[in-house]
Amino acid sequence: MRLSQIEIHFPDKENLFAQMDQKASIDNYFPEKEANILSKQESYNKHLFRPNTYLHKWWARRSGSTFRYILKQLVQDITLRDYYSSGGLEGVVVLDPMMGGGTTLHEAIRLGANVIGFDIDPIPVLQAKASLANIDPYDKVRAFDEFILRLREKNSSYYITHCPVCGATAEIQFTLYGIRKKYQGREVLVVDSFVIKEKSNGNDILLDHFYPDRKVEYEQKHWDVLDKEFAKKNKMNGKDFDLLDIPITERYTPILILGHCKAHGSFYKKPDNKDIDVIKRTKNVLKNCKIPDDNLFKIYAGPKSKDLVARNIVSYSQLFTPRQLLFLDTAKSLLETAPNRHKIWLALLLSTSLEFNSILCGYKGAEKRRPGAIRHVFSHHAYSFPYTALENNPLFYGNSSGTLERLFNSRILAASKWAQAPVERYKKNGMWAKTTLLNESDIGSECHTIDDFRNHKKMFFVRQNDSSNLPLPNSCVDFVVTDPPYYDSVQYSDLSHFFRCWLQWFLPHETNWNYLTDNSAVAASSKDNNKYCESLSNIWSECNRVLKRPHGRLIFTFHHWKPDDWAHLAISLQYP
Ligand SMILES: C[S@@+](CC[C@H](N)C(=O)[O-])C[C@H]1O[C@@H](n2cnc3c(N)ncnc32)[C@H](O)[C@@H]1O
Ligand SMILES: [Zn+2]
Repeated sequence: MRLSQIEIHFPDKENLFAQMDQKASIDNYFPEKEANILSKQESYNKHLFRPNTYLHKWWARRSGSTFRYILKQLVQDITLRDYYSSGGLEGVVVLDPMMGGGTTLHEAIRLGANVIGFDIDPIPVLQAKASLANIDPYDKVRAFDEFILRLREKNSSYYITHCPVCGATAEIQFTLYGIRKKYQGREVLVVDSFVIKEKSNGNDILLDHFYPDRKVEYEQKHWDVLDKEFAKKNKMNGKDFDLLDIPITERYTPILILGHCKAHGSFYKKPDNKDIDVIKRTKNVLKNCKIPDDNLFKIYAGPKSKDLVARNIVSYSQLFTPRQLLFLDTAKSLLETAPNRHKIWLALLLSTSLEFNSILCGYKGAEKRRPGAIRHVFSHHAYSFPYTALENNPLFYGNSSGTLERLFNSRILAASKWAQAPVERYKKNGMWAKTTLLNESDIGSECHTIDDFRNHKKMFFVRQNDSSNLPLPNSCVDFVVTDPPYYDSVQYSDLSHFFRCWLQWFLPHETNWNYLTDNSAVAASSKDNNKYCESLSNIWSECNRVLKRPHGRLIFTFHHWKPDDWAHLAISLQYP
C-alpha cells in the first residue's frame, strides 16, 4: 500500500503505543548487515546521499541511512517498517538533545515525525532551521540572483585584471601568493611548487615562465623564490623563519593571477602595475568598512586554534585579505536588506564560503588529481599554513570551486530540490541504483512551542541549548535518538569558531551566541576530570524525565575505538 492511499489520522499516541507490548521492535532486532552495507557506501559520499544536511561545515556527521534504519524500527505499522517504504512515524515526537549536523532530525521528519533538536553550539541550530524550512527552491534562486547581482555591482571591480593578449578587461579567477620567510639574513619567497599547472601532455605551466630567474619584485622589495622541498630540507619552520611581526596576510606576496578573457579564455599572468593598484585600492576602501573590531573575532587558543596564536594571529578576521574583507562587509550589508525568510540560509552560505576564501586556502596546482583546485581551509581537519596561498574570487562567473554561485547550486539549490523528493540507493544485481521515495520530503514547519505539535506532523522545534537542562515538560517525547560527542572532541567546537564569529556578526539575534565551551559535554576539562561523565549524565537524566512511558526509548550511537571513552560513557549512563 502506498502512503498516499492511507488516510492519516492523528490518534491519541498514548493509546496507540499502549497497544504495543512493553518491548519495542528495536529492543530485539536491528538490521545490522543491511545498515552496514548502505552506511559504508554513504560514508564516502555523504553529501551526495543526503545533500540537504550539507549546507554548512559540521564535524562528526553520521550516516543518515543508519539513523533511518534505527527510526524504522520504531514504526508501529509493520507494513511501513521496511527501509524503502515511506513514512511511518507521523505525529510521533522524536528528540535529539545533541543534534550536531541534524541527522536524526532530517531522518525523522522524512518519516513524518515531529522533531525537537537542541545543541549547545549555535551553528547546528541555524543549519537545522535553514535546511528543514519549507522555502520553494525557486524563491531561493530569485533571492540569490538578486543578492549576487548587487554584490557583483559593488565588488566585481576589485577582481578585474587585463588580458595579456588583447589588453581587454578580464575577470580574475584567483590570485596566488608566495610566503615571505627569513633565511640566512634576508627575506625569500617560498611556494609549494614551481609547477603551476600539470598538463596531461607534459607541457606543464611553470612559475619559471613568468619569473625565469626565480626572482620576484613587488613594491620595491626583491625576493628569491624557493620551493617547499628546499624549505623542508633546510627546516625553514618556526619563529626564526616566519615574519611574525606583521599581519598574516602581509606575510604573503602576490605572484600570479589566473584570469579569464572573453575572447582568449583562461590565462596566467604576473601581476602588473594596474593589478597592484587594485590591491592597494582595496586596502584604502577597507578603511571605511564596518567590520567589527577584534573583540568579536578574538582567538582563544583552543586545542586547534592555538596553532594560529603560535603564529601571532590573534583574530579570525586577520585570516582574510583586504579584498576578502571588503566582500564580507558588502555581503553583510546586503544580508540586512534581504527578506527575513532568506536570511539564515544566505548567512550560512556566506559562512560556508569562508572556507574557500581565506588566506589559509592552498593551491593544488601540481597535483595530478584536480590540478588547479583550491585546498580549502579544513581539508585536513585542522589549520594548515600553505606556502602558496590562493585568494579566490567568490564572485567569479565560471563554474570553479569555492565561488558563491557554485556553493549556492550545490549546498542550497540541489539540496532543496532533493529535499522535495529524497532519493535512496539500493543494490541491484551487484550495482547501485537509486529510487525516489514517494510521499516523503525532508522539509518541515517550524514551531515556537511544542504545543503546536498536536494534530500535526513534520513540525520542528530547534533551539540553542545546553541539554543538561531541557526546556521541556515531563513525558512529552516518544523517542530520543541521538549521538553523543566524543570524550575528547573539544577541538571541533574550537575549529567551528572560525565560522561562528562571522555568523554572529551576520545574524546577531537569530540564536543565543553566549556559547560556553565549558558547558559542553565534549571533553573532560583540565579543571575537572569528571566533566564528560557529569555533563552527559545530566543530559541522560533529562532524557529520562521527558520520555513518555512505557514505550519511550533512548537510543544512541557511539563511535569510538578507545576503551576509556566507552568506560566514561558507561559511567555517565549509571548516574540517572
Ligand atoms: C557527535 S555530535 C552529533 C552529530 C550528529 N549526530 C550528526 O550526525 O551530525 C555531538 C553534538 O553534541 C553537542 N553537544 C555537546 N555538549 C552538549 C550539551 N551540553 N548540550 C547540547 N549539545 C551538546 C555538540 O555541539 C555536537 O554538535
Ligand atoms: Zn584577450
